[in-house]
Amino acid sequence: MVDQVERAGQPEERHDAIEVLSHEDRRFPPPAAFAEQANVNDPAVYERAKADPEAFWAEQAENLTWFKKWDQVLDWDNAPFAKWFVGGKLNIAHNCLDRHVEAGKGNKVAFYWEGEPGDTRTITYSELLKEVCKVSNALKELDVVKGDRVVIYMPMIPELAVTLLACARIGAPHTVVFGGFSADAVRDRINDAQAEIVITADGGYRRGAPSALKPHVDEAIEGAPSIEKVLVVKRTGQDVPMTEGRDFWWDDVVGRQPEQHEPEEMDSEDLLYLLYTSGTTGKPKGIAHTTGGYMVGATYTHRAVFDIKDDDVYWCAADIGWVTGHTYICYAPLANCTTSVMYEGTPFYPEPDRWWDIIERYKVSILYCAPTAIRAHMKEGHQHATGHDLSALRLLGSVGEPINPEAWMWYHRYIGGERCPVVDTWWQTETGSIMISPLPGVTTTKPGSATFALPGIDADIVDDDGKSVPNGRAGYLVIRQPWPSMLRTLYGDPERYEETYWGKFENMYFAGDGAMRDEEGYFWLLGRVDDVMNVSGHRLSTTEIESALVSHDLVAEAAVVGQPDPLTGEAIFAFVILKNRAHPEDQAEFGKVLRDHVAKKISPIAKPKRVMFTPDLPKTRSGKIMRRLLRNIASGQTIGDTTTLADSGVVDLIQEASLSQSDDE
Ligand code: PRX
Repeated sequence: MVDQVERAGQPEERHDAIEVLSHEDRRFPPPAAFAEQANVNDPAVYERAKADPEAFWAEQAENLTWFKKWDQVLDWDNAPFAKWFVGGKLNIAHNCLDRHVEAGKGNKVAFYWEGEPGDTRTITYSELLKEVCKVSNALKELDVVKGDRVVIYMPMIPELAVTLLACARIGAPHTVVFGGFSADAVRDRINDAQAEIVITADGGYRRGAPSALKPHVDEAIEGAPSIEKVLVVKRTGQDVPMTEGRDFWWDDVVGRQPEQHEPEEMDSEDLLYLLYTSGTTGKPKGIAHTTGGYMVGATYTHRAVFDIKDDDVYWCAADIGWVTGHTYICYAPLANCTTSVMYEGTPFYPEPDRWWDIIERYKVSILYCAPTAIRAHMKEGHQHATGHDLSALRLLGSVGEPINPEAWMWYHRYIGGERCPVVDTWWQTETGSIMISPLPGVTTTKPGSATFALPGIDADIVDDDGKSVPNGRAGYLVIRQPWPSMLRTLYGDPERYEETYWGKFENMYFAGDGAMRDEEGYFWLLGRVDDVMNVSGHRLSTTEIESALVSHDLVAEAAVVGQPDPLTGEAIFAFVILKNRAHPEDQAEFGKVLRDHVAKKISPIAKPKRVMFTPDLPKTRSGKIMRRLLRNIASGQTIGDTTTLADSGVVDLIQEASLSQSDDE
């Protein structure tokens, strides 16, 4: 866009992809005691990695156990198709389990697992190894061999992690379908991956009730002829149909297996897993991750960003169905011999303090979760957290969306007791591991900023022509050099891989996100560029306006979208969820207060034209706001596809609210 901006009387022509309006002055240096003990506390690491990224990553790769060392760190001759640690041989399950047991750590706890109804299991590394060996043998009995794709559709139970590891052990790439997805999603993924087996459970617990999974698999298989076998874990004990000759109970098949299994020797570039991202439109993309590079990126970032120590109790409160769970519940923590908490259910069951109770009981020292969860807790009120002893916590992490500065402050104050560094970590299913994040022993943080690219990662912000923008300006987030845990391709569709990620700018990976770097070079993520609104020729990011709304004391969460407007092109439409304690007498009046608040906080051009109060927002199952649906509501169009929506009732609620509040303006 071309925008005339008056600066000191001089008209200046600007070509900004997105404009930046907000400003943040608060800053938090690493506490001295934290920095002193941190795994990474020398800022020289950035320069060292930049001077020779391949040497840097090779150094990190030495922390894994290789059956055969690599011949070449990186092969980028066939860009954008990368090969890392070429010629290296290893097995991931062996790295996550056998080597720790061999080193005498068999009695260390791998998982403290807690089911939603309150049942618990404690699993040591040697117990986990035995279970993984048995499942590896069971898969062999079910004719699964190296290279076969295995579809997994399970609740958050230990068998889910065990299954991933067993697949990795025998060299069968897994593809996990989140347990909240429908039969359609399972079917699409089976068909794209051409899988012959599904591993599932009868059901799982969510919000206090058993919810069935197996019937979804049966429905999916009706349109998925490649499936020959289904292995079923008994979790809830609910009645589910079993098809003779095709369906097998886990306990029967796994129960009879020996506890030893030789891990398969895998090539560094062998496929480890596929993970499908739905995308907003079109066919899901099968993101392909391979073995060696993925594990190097995962283990390094886990150690550096979360400062993992031998005695930590670490809790990544995601679901293994997402990449966050693959990398930071399963593979990286186990490869780093970490003790983790794993929780099956929802945060507010049976009471809003469930998370804080878990943290107190297990003495969790590191918590990693999503801003959507933090805002939901803010809405409930901090009294649920402050009623618990959270003093074991020493580090907090955030992932999945931009974290609004006020949500960051709330997390820091009420959960972290103002002593824990907060790491806001930016990455994607495609990147495999964290790319932009503070190093908690080095980086001075600013609430809402993911700060800097990690050592060895070459991130930049460019304009429409692919040129770097100066500090203080916004544009498109790109990665200029390959990195070990990058996706290798889209399964079965290399052209789409090239076009989607490497087609917009020459020799750069385009992440699809807008970002800006402030005067000190800090990265601020501004959301997906598809969501950018064009208001009177100003290209505004949703993130800043949402953060301005959330900075009001009574607002828990906000989503803004563009609404077609005859005068300004698009007008800003804000959906707002208030905190539980907020009861404005006059909603129209309070809407005006919020509009003025945004104008004051960032700029009059960012003032929403309309504010609508809603009890909830449509979100994907991983907690991302579905702005596409909100745009449709705002423009009075039909709602369209809601299959990836976590709760389809939300849209009805908003539409009802929209009718009752139709004349705010
Ligand atoms: O838009 C960015 C947002 O989530 C997208 C990636 O989503 P997904 O592949 O599901 O992976 C999520 C977990 C890694 C990104 O393109 N995103 C993720 N983390 C952040 C973020 N946006 C801002 N700040 C973050 N820390």
